[in-house]
Amino acid sequence: MANKQPFVSSTNSELRATKTIKQLLREGANRLLKNKITSAYLDAEIILYSTLNKTREWLYANLNTKIVQALADKYYSLIGKRARHIPIAYITNRKEFFGLDFYVDKTVLIPRPETELLVKQTIAEARRDNFRQDDFKTNITIADIGTGSGCIVITLAKKLPQAKLIATDISKKALVIAKKNAKRHGVSSRINFFRGDLLKPVQNKIIDIIIANLPYLDSKMNNLLRSPDSQSLKFEPTIALKGGIDGLNLYRRLLKQISAMKDKPTLLLFEIGAGQAVEMKKIIRKLFKKSTIQIIKDLAGFDRVIKIKTH
Ligand SMILES: C[S@@+](CC[C@H](N)C(=O)[O-])C[C@H]1O[C@@H](n2cnc3c(N)ncnc32)[C@H](O)[C@@H]1O
Repeated sequence: MANKQPFVSSTNSELRATKTIKQLLREGANRLLKNKITSAYLDAEIILYSTLNKTREWLYANLNTKIVQALADKYYSLIGKRARHIPIAYITNRKEFFGLDFYVDKTVLIPRPETELLVKQTIAEARRDNFRQDDFKTNITIADIGTGSGCIVITLAKKLPQAKLIATDISKKALVIAKKNAKRHGVSSRINFFRGDLLKPVQNKIIDIIIANLPYLDSKMNNLLRSPDSQSLKFEPTIALKGGIDGLNLYRRLLKQISAMKDKPTLLLFEIGAGQAVEMKKIIRKLFKKSTIQIIKDLAGFDRVIKIKTH
């Protein structure tokens, strides 16, 4: 939607246009560079086109357009936040995941590109004809445990139009964001959201697939892989990150809850961190004697997804 505020000059001092887009970009990028932001130029562009409610293409087609003072001030204030290393997604309140645009703020984890692998694997499995004896495609139920922004469950709702979906989170604030995103993507009626500890609120339901990207950082953060992640970590909710001494506390508890279900799901898919596959396999084999386990690596070659056929 076009921003209603005019970009060029007016008699009102707030609306007086002083600087061009080109000047603002240069000033913003220089300030970010001084503060050791490696993506300074790109971030200045993103902040400017978000402030103006325009696109990157529009910026480049209008480099000599002057911007009114009120909008320039807003841009400077957001550049100031980025200079303090606040993640760009929290500044613009947007993050793309699986080609979809999600609202995010500091109450939820910023969706990571590597989590797309977990979603891709789930979609592929859910589309298999021979997954279950009966008409799997029409009545499959998938539960996303620890939904955060809702990026996983909402993508599944979009890609699997016949699936029934459940999402849980312990954080009330995260559920507010997940519901907001479900509404934004027109899938609110397809997803049942529950607040509670892991599987507890839905443990009595019949679920075919359980998918989860639970907090899995260990206490020394040894399993942290990427530097951009580490920069945003101090701004993200602790409850979305930490998984105890070896990072696997939440998965241990979740797997126990699943093993206690009357009707056990056929398939489980979890995102894990570097070096966690061996311990995860041990936990799973103890609880699910007949299980088949597969580890899937991400593009960087790290163990990323663990897929478990429970029987
Ligand atoms: C790593 S974040 C993942 C968020 C989202 N699924 C994603 O992939 O971007 C983990 C989520 O688990 C939630 N969580 C943490 N402990 C939980 C618990 N005991 N029960 C349910 N959810 C929990 C957090 O609030 C957070 O939203």
